[in-house]
Amino acid sequence: MAEKILNFHGIGQIRINPNNRKTEKNKVLMRVRLGLLINFHILNDLNGSTKVKKSKIALEVVGAQKSFGQVEVLKAIDLEILAGERVGLMGPSGSGKSTLLNCICGIEPLDEGLIKVAGLDLTGLKHGELEKLRRENMGYVFQSFHLLPTLNAFENVEFAAQLVGIEKEERIRRVTDLFEQVGLSHRMDHLPNALSGGERQRVAIARALVHQPGLVLADEPTGSLDTESGSQVLELLKSLSSTLEVALLLVTHDHESTRICDRVITMKDGSLIAE
Ligand SMILES: Nc1ncnc2c1ncn2[C@@H]1O[C@H](COP(=O)(O)OP(=O)(O)OP(=O)(O)O)[C@@H](O)[C@H]1O
Ligand SMILES: [Mg+2]
Repeated sequence: MAEKILNFHGIGQIRINPNNRKTEKNKVLMRVRLGLLINFHILNDLNGSTKVKKSKIALEVVGAQKSFGQVEVLKAIDLEILAGERVGLMGPSGSGKSTLLNCICGIEPLDEGLIKVAGLDLTGLKHGELEKLRRENMGYVFQSFHLLPTLNAFENVEFAAQLVGIEKEERIRRVTDLFEQVGLSHRMDHLPNALSGGERQRVAIARALVHQPGLVLADEPTGSLDTESGSQVLELLKSLSSTLEVALLLVTHDHESTRICDRVITMKDGSLIAE
């Protein structure tokens, strides 16, 4: 059987050799719990100076084009987001919002144009450099949570911090702090499947912020939350982006959510229309 690769957006990959396993899940869990990371495909040198210098421009998109088959999904998109700036992205279903986010985080390659994150052109990066940039400089809160099912809530967040080499004491402090801020201190030892959708999303938000990235991409982060916890999450994103100078690109269908944004842009049929 071929080697299997498990992808965790924004965190990295785990490669598993199926000829040598009890069960894939248990093996991943064991490795993560023991911190051994034997087969873990860490694509950069965690000992080196890994943090990309903070750029005043967190994100630059120039003439971005992307088609799926005959369908032009992104048509010459230009967008600039400054460090610490919060930008709302709205638009009808199917207009290309998630595709733009996937291109920004390097999951989807562009057909034309360029995307720079923290001053680095994604297309010029080798695979390992791209992984490193994503893991250290971007945070993700997507429609599906991508939590590791075999790790509890605390471990899911701690794991992201561990991957960028944050020391144990600092990790525990940061994670505990974030759980307090997302209002889940009493749920830290729960596995994801023992959390509500909204609680899972709050864990995903804590995970997206624990390594203090320069840019957070959020695709309808409050879509599964009730009004009150949605509001808490938005306020949290706002206060953290202010204090840590984290730029935020927030996709939402809800005008009310854009109250935390400095500006709102709208996408229609793959183009950004006037702000
Ligand atoms: N991998 C893919 N292959 C083919 N077509 C795709 C793919 N991903 C997206 N599309 C198409 O691209 C268009 C834009 O999709 P996208 O998910 O970016 O929209 P969206 O604005 O995020 O919509 P929503 O608000 O419903 O989440 C859609 O017509 C979709 O069907
Ligand atoms: Mg979408």
